[in-house]
Amino acid sequence: MTILAIESSCDDTCAAVIDMDGRIRSNVISSQQAHARFGGVVPEIASRQHLELIDLVVAQALADGGTTLEQLELVAATQGPGLIGALLVGLSSAKALAGARELPFAAVDHLQGHVAANFLITECAPAQAGASAAAAPDGEQGPFEPPFVCLIASGGHTLLARVTARDGFDVLGRTLDDAAGEAFDKGARMLGLGYPGGAALERLAQSGDPSAFSFPGSASERARGGRGAQRRAFADGLDFSFAGLKTALLYTLRDLPDGELEARAADLAASYQAAIVDSLLARVERALERTGIARVAVGGGVAANGELRRRLLALDAAVHIPARALCTDNAAMIASAARFAEHIAYPGYLGLDAYATGERRG
Ligand code: KG4
Ligand code: ZN
Repeated sequence: MTILAIESSCDDTCAAVIDMDGRIRSNVISSQQAHARFGGVVPEIASRQHLELIDLVVAQALADGGTTLEQLELVAATQGPGLIGALLVGLSSAKALAGARELPFAAVDHLQGHVAANFLITECAPAQAGASAAAAPDGEQGPFEPPFVCLIASGGHTLLARVTARDGFDVLGRTLDDAAGEAFDKGARMLGLGYPGGAALERLAQSGDPSAFSFPGSASERARGGRGAQRRAFADGLDFSFAGLKTALLYTLRDLPDGELEARAADLAASYQAAIVDSLLARVERALERTGIARVAVGGGVAANGELRRRLLALDAAVHIPARALCTDNAAMIASAARFAEHIAYPGYLGLDAYATGERRG
């Protein structure tokens, strides 16, 4: 079965073609550059850009995948959560493509897509050499099978899930405020590193001392006992919070003596990154302990972070980190999830609507 999927929940216009066994035939991602000067994604601009790009991106995915519209057997799209106008462009295009050929359709939850990136067959990336996921002899990496604990950390989401089947997950924890990627981006902006700044912050952190400053969420801060019983109760749970960290950086920057920022920027970046990674790792470790599952997978743009990868790979567990292009938003992961989702026969899907927040609904 040949599947075409479209993903347009945020600022990447994506289309991919995969086979039913999870082999990727094409994975086209067009990242919109128009948002950088605004320091964040502007929803209306994102929708308009999706409209301009979607036909080209789909045509490219079909061409790269060596297939035609006539050869497709299933069409899928992200239904939510995400920016509603952006989602509607991809969902409507996909429904039109499927409807015109009376093909079955799968409406996919974006987070289920991030989880399902782990079920794809991919080239074995060098960064995964230490990972203990099943590696096929021809250099391909096979699907990572449930059960596993999945950490999804992107600019829009921070989620810890228990995955016991290929068609769903249980939420173990999520962020109470900012997403982990958002925390990286806001920290980067305060340090004058532009947007999105996660990667730039990581580069700056490489020459800094992660223990120079003690930020909330960092291991050094927890060692001091945190701030009161409520904070300790939260620190023992599986939910995330990054808003306090952002404020702590703001106050630290405000209190720095004049002219000190340049000299301390690398230390600040390293300490701030350490606080985010510590917070993510502490909850992953706790989730492994509580579920008794010794298998971890990740998704989302923050999975590109070297410090996070090093710390994950050092866990006493089987660790699966998909290639970067499969961690960030892409349509191959949506196609992957579509394999295990409900395949709605024509014309049952024509009235499907997108959803901006929350869980999937019909
Ligand atoms: O998954 P993604 O491409 O898009 C969504 O947000 O859905 O994730 C982008 C996020 C941004 O917040 C970006 O700063 C962060 O991932 N990011 C990183 C790194 N590369 C990207 N954060 C930390 N370290 C990195 N190397
Ligand atoms: Zn995403």
